[in-house]
Amino acid sequence: MTILGIETSCDECSAGLVRDGKTVLSNLIFTQIKQHEPYAGVVPEIASRLHVEWIYDTVEKALREADLRIEQVDAVAVTHKPGLVGSLLVGLSFAKGLALSRNIPLIGVDHIPAHLYAVQLERDVPYPFLGLLVSGGHTVLCVVRDFDQMEVLGGTVDDACGEAFDKVAKFYEMGYPGGPALQKAAGRGDPKAFIFPHPILQKRHSVYDVSYSGLKTAVINHPRRFLREGAEFSTENLAASFQKVSVDLLIKVLKKAIHATGINRIVAGGGVVANTYLRESLSSLGLPGVYYPSMKLCTDNGAMIAGIGYRYFKKGKIDSFSLKAVSREPLFRKNLSS
Ligand code: KG4
Ligand code: ZN
Repeated sequence: MTILGIETSCDECSAGLVRDGKTVLSNLIFTQIKQHEPYAGVVPEIASRLHVEWIYDTVEKALREADLRIEQVDAVAVTHKPGLVGSLLVGLSFAKGLALSRNIPLIGVDHIPAHLYAVQLERDVPYPFLGLLVSGGHTVLCVVRDFDQMEVLGGTVDDACGEAFDKVAKFYEMGYPGGPALQKAAGRGDPKAFIFPHPILQKRHSVYDVSYSGLKTAVINHPRRFLREGAEFSTENLAASFQKVSVDLLIKVLKKAIHATGINRIVAGGGVVANTYLRESLSSLGLPGVYYPSMKLCTDNGAMIAGIGYRYFKKGKIDSFSLKAVSREPLFRKNLSS
């Protein structure tokens, strides 16, 4: 069975074709980085308009690369949540039109479990595992019991981790997109030059929650307060120190989760997982299994949507043409004891 996966939740216009939920036949990703660069951030209006322009060609190219005709596509899976609603609507409406005209099933996909499914397109990672999704829009730590069974332990209570990287990089004019630019600057800096404290969360939050908003504000508005005596005030030192504390926060909650659940297999996904310091920190945990999808499957892509879409289809989950685009919704949380 061949499924077309469409992903337009943010600033990547992507279409992928996947056979039987495993074999990636094509995975075309057109990023809008250049178009958003002058604004040093994603402009929702520009993003959705570009998706309108690009979606047809993206799907056509994905078919061509897979050497398939549209008649050979058995179902269409599409991200319908969460994301920028104007962007989601483009992919969703396109998918509906395609499903209607070809008389094939429409499968709505939640972007978050899809990111954590991406790794299964490259290797079989047995369930359960701890899923760590860190991107520009999400920071989620969960127990993944099956492709569609996620218990959220924690996540950010304010900004996403990637978002904080992007905002700090924007303020200090490090480059765009912020994450990779900040990592580059950090490579030339001293991670101990600034001592940023770990945020203290309120009691009502989970012990697996993290926060980036206060840290971001400290780095942007009051960096000198945190400069170690004798250390040099430089953008590189700031980048290195901020990167260290941001990643250390994730590692801290991850360690707690490993301890509480006894699960020591980790799957990490999302754009921030490209960060070398995060990867090194995960490796240094010395766990038997830490898995990441390759870069093309780590960021937003259509193949992961098609892949998990197949699994939903096999379970009988097919959507109607009234399927909604949802910008965000509360994640189901299950708190384990600290
Ligand atoms: O998963 P993704 O492509 O899109 C979202 O769903 O958000 O993630 C993009 C995020 C951006 O915030 C970007 O700055 C961040 O991932 N990112 C990085 C690195 N590469 C991308 N953050 C830190 N270090 C990197 N090397
Ligand atoms: Zn994403």
